[in-house]
Amino acid sequence: MTPVKLAVIGAGLIGRRHAEHVAAEPRSALSAVVDPTPAGRAVAAALGAPWFPSFGQMLSAERPDGVIIATPNQLHVRNGLEAVEAGIPAIVEKPLADDLAEGERLVAAAEKAGVPLLTGHHRRYNPMIRKAKEIVDSGRLGRVLALSGHFWLMKPDDYFEADWRREKGAGPILLNLIHDVDLFRYLCGEVVSVQAHSSNAVRGHAVEETAAILLRFANGVLGTVTVSDSIVAPWSWEMTTGENPVYPQQDQSCYQIGGTHGSLTIPQLEIWSNPAKRSWWEPLVRERVHVAPEDPLRVQVRHFCDVIRKGAAPIASGREGLNTLKVIAAVQRSAETGATVELG
Ligand SMILES: NC(=O)c1ccc[n+]([C@@H]2O[C@H](COP(=O)([O-])OP(=O)(O)OC[C@H]3O[C@@H](n4cnc5c(N)ncnc54)[C@H](O)[C@@H]3O)[C@@H](O)[C@H]2O)c1
Repeated sequence: MTPVKLAVIGAGLIGRRHAEHVAAEPRSALSAVVDPTPAGRAVAAALGAPWFPSFGQMLSAERPDGVIIATPNQLHVRNGLEAVEAGIPAIVEKPLADDLAEGERLVAAAEKAGVPLLTGHHRRYNPMIRKAKEIVDSGRLGRVLALSGHFWLMKPDDYFEADWRREKGAGPILLNLIHDVDLFRYLCGEVVSVQAHSSNAVRGHAVEETAAILLRFANGVLGTVTVSDSIVAPWSWEMTTGENPVYPQQDQSCYQIGGTHGSLTIPQLEIWSNPAKRSWWEPLVRERVHVAPEDPLRVQVRHFCDVIRKGAAPIASGREGLNTLKVIAAVQRSAETGATVELG
């Protein structure tokens, strides 16, 4: 089979990694890199791919089978619409849009045109998460009642030297919690109501540094999650999963999911249960489920090839990305107003 031709639009921090995975994956070929900067051109040259300064210029020379859009948030909808209008399947990095109504416009356009649109919530492709979903769906935990999540880590002071990171439009709710919420939705279903408080007690930036959030899911699961980029701690996806080697990996959990017959820790995949009788007086047994690790960005590329070639249903569709974004918008609204926000 000829490889699926994929182009990467925006070759910055994450786009470069996408381009490397596309080039390395036997099922795909890197057909172009689009990025107007010299750095973007250098990425194309390093990977031996044609370079174009804009989407339009690429299209007049080269039609890929799919595009991965990793431009700044403000360009996601524009670039996504360019792909949809050209009938080219696309993965749009998260957040799907920087505005809910615009995100809805993009998803509606893709659905109307029948063009596959995915959101780059790559954590869903982590084999550990796939296994966690299998465990939750299998009923081994009984009826799931609660989940708990932490995103606690320390972003150093120099991280905030870039102005935009101190302003509205940045902050751990939008930048980081969006990943956690997307996984919670993947594992436990739709969120129907949120309450949140936030603070900027230490750094005093316009944007929050800490937030505490209550989530109610349609199936009755209740969740709590706290996020902070100003706490020295080992409890976050980043510090525990080893997904990105720049963070020193800790043998700690970042999420716990609790049910009537057992509990699960993530990322260790430890299942805690009472083998004989469910009771706080009975021995608790801990079983560790093992999975072979694999880079989820690479798995995402393979899945995208299956969507394009075999018509596979997207695991993280544009609509899913939009629904995750709606929860994040509700968290921000609740933190601002102090009110509980119900989601339709
Ligand atoms: N899935 C994840 O874990 C993850 C991680 C990091 C970033 N992201 C998302 O990816 C996106 C990019 O983030 P980043 O950290 O790589 O940013 P970045 O600033 O490093 O890269 C953005 C790139 O887009 C290029 N660009 C700007 N305008 C363009 C245009 N019109 N056409 C083509 N290219 C253009 C820039 O030159 C730059 O190289 C953001 O939306 C971010 O939220 C996702």
